[in-house]
Amino acid sequence: MPGNSDVGVFGLGPMGENFALNLLSRGFSVSIYNRTPERTRTFLERVGGAAGLTGTYSLRDFVASLSRPRRIFLFVKAGQPVDEVIAQLGPHLEPGDVLLDCGNSHFRDSDRRYEELLRKGIDFVGMGVSGGYEGALKGPSMMAGGSIRGYGSVEGVLREAAAKHRGDPCVSYFGPGGSGHLVKTVHNGIEYAMMAAIAEVYGVLRNGLGMGPDEASSVFEGWSSGELSSFLVEATYRVLRYREEGSGEPLIERVLDVAEQKGTGIWTAQLSLDLGVPAPSIAEAVHGRFVSAMRDFRQRASTYACAASLPRAEGEVVETCRWSLYLTFVASYLQGSLLLEAASKSLGYGFDVAEAFRVWRAGCIIRSRIVERAYAALSAFQGEGRTLQLMEEFQRDIREHVSEWGGFVALAARLGVPAPVTSSALNWYLAITSRRLTANLVQALRDYFGRHGFQRIDMHGTFSSGWGRE
Ligand SMILES: NC(=O)c1ccc[n+]([C@@H]2O[C@H](COP(=O)([O-])OP(=O)(O)OC[C@H]3O[C@@H](n4cnc5c(N)ncnc54)[C@H](OP(=O)(O)O)[C@@H]3O)[C@@H](O)[C@H]2O)c1
Repeated sequence: MPGNSDVGVFGLGPMGENFALNLLSRGFSVSIYNRTPERTRTFLERVGGAAGLTGTYSLRDFVASLSRPRRIFLFVKAGQPVDEVIAQLGPHLEPGDVLLDCGNSHFRDSDRRYEELLRKGIDFVGMGVSGGYEGALKGPSMMAGGSIRGYGSVEGVLREAAAKHRGDPCVSYFGPGGSGHLVKTVHNGIEYAMMAAIAEVYGVLRNGLGMGPDEASSVFEGWSSGELSSFLVEATYRVLRYREEGSGEPLIERVLDVAEQKGTGIWTAQLSLDLGVPAPSIAEAVHGRFVSAMRDFRQRASTYACAASLPRAEGEVVETCRWSLYLTFVASYLQGSLLLEAASKSLGYGFDVAEAFRVWRAGCIIRSRIVERAYAALSAFQGEGRTLQLMEEFQRDIREHVSEWGGFVALAARLGVPAPVTSSALNWYLAITSRRLTANLVQALRDYFGRHGFQRIDMHGTFSSGWGRE
C-alpha cells in the first residue's frame, strides 16, 4: 500500500459512495472501505479505474493507504454502528488522525465521542451533511462541530466538496462536541415541517379542488419561481408529475400513505421540550408521521370522517394555499432559529444562528429564497436576538397575508383535510407575538386547585389566593 491517499471514505451507502465520487471529481485521491466487501467490489466495477481511487478490503489496508494525518469520513448508519466502527478503527489510528462522522448522529452521542476520542488524541469531527445522495455527489451543505484542529485539517477538502452559493462554500464549523450535528438535527426538523406543510396543501388541492397529480404539479411549479422558490417545492412538482414506466400512471397515486422516520425530527421535538423553546410545527410534523404509520387504525376510524364542500372559487383557493404555505415555511425557519439560539447558549456551543442560514443557502434540502433572504437580513445586523431580526425581515409579508394563513386552516377544516402543521405554525406565530396571552388564567387555575402561586403585573414577589373559597 502506498499510503498516499488524501482521504478515506468508510461506508459505501448512497451517501458515502457519492461523496467519494465528489472528492475524486475535485482532484483528491480517495481510499474506500465498506464492511461488506461486495459493496466495495460493485462500486469499483461501476466507476472503473477512476484516477485516484483505491479500493481496500481490510481495515489495516484502508488505514495504511492514507497519508498522515489520516482523514477519514464515516458514512455509516447512525447509532450503534458508529460506535462499533470507531472501536474497530481505534487500534489502527494514531494521535493527530481525524475522524469525521458524517451520518445523522445524535448530537449528544457526538459530544461523547468527541470527549472519548480527545483522550486518545484523535480529532473527532461530528458533521451533518445535507442534500441527499445527489448533494453528496454535486456538493452538499455541511455543518461541522467537534475538534477545531481536526476541522482545520480537512477544511480545504470540505470547502472544495461543498455546495457553493455564489462562490461561497456552504460548510462551517459551529463549535465543540456535537454542535454540527445539533445544527443538522434542527435543519432536519425544519425539513419535516416544510414537507408536512406541502403535503397539507396538496390535501386541499386534491380533496378540495379535486385536482389530479398533474394539475397539482402545475400549481406547485407555478409557485416554484416566486417567494416559495425552494428545493422542496421543486421536488414536489417533479414527484407529482412523475409517471411510472410501464403503466404510465402517476406513481404518487401508488405510494402508501405512510411516512417513515429515522429520528432527527423526534430529537428536534425533544430538544424543544427539553429547552422549553416551542417548535410545535416540527413536533406536529413528527406526530403526522406517527399518524400516517397507524394505517390500519385509520382505515377503521375513517367511518367517522367528516368533510364539507368547498365554498370558494378555485383561483382564490390556490392563492390562499400559496400564501399559507409560504408563511408556514417562514414560521418553520423561525422556530428552528429560536431553537438554535437557545441550544447554542444552553449547551455551550456558542455559534451564531446566522452561520446556519449561511450554509443552508445551497446544497441542502431546506435551501430556498427564504433562507437567502434570512441570511442577507442577519448579515446586516449583529448581536443578540437573531430570531427577532428575522421576524422584522418577514413581518410585512406576514401582516399582509395572515388572513390567507387563517383562511387555509379554516378551509382545510371545512374540507376535512388535516392541517396540524399549518395550524400550529399559525398559532405559534400568533402566540409568540402576543403581548398578553391568557396564560394568566391557566396560572390562576393552577393556584386555585394546587396553590402553585402566581406573579403579579403590579407587584414583585410570588402570591397565592383562595380565589374566594377561604
Ligand atoms: N440517504 C440520505 O439522503 C442521507 C442524507 C443525509 C444524511 N444521511 C446519513 O448518512 C449516513 C449514511 O447514509 P446512507 O443513506 O448512505 O446509508 P445507510 O443505509 O444509513 O448506511 C449504510 C452504510 O452503513 C454501513 N453499516 C451499517 N451498519 C454497520 C456496522 N455495524 N458496521 C459497519 N458499517 C455499517 C453499511 O455497510 P454494509 O454495506 O456492510 O451494510 C453501509 O455502508 C447515515 O447516518 C444517514 O442517516 C443520509
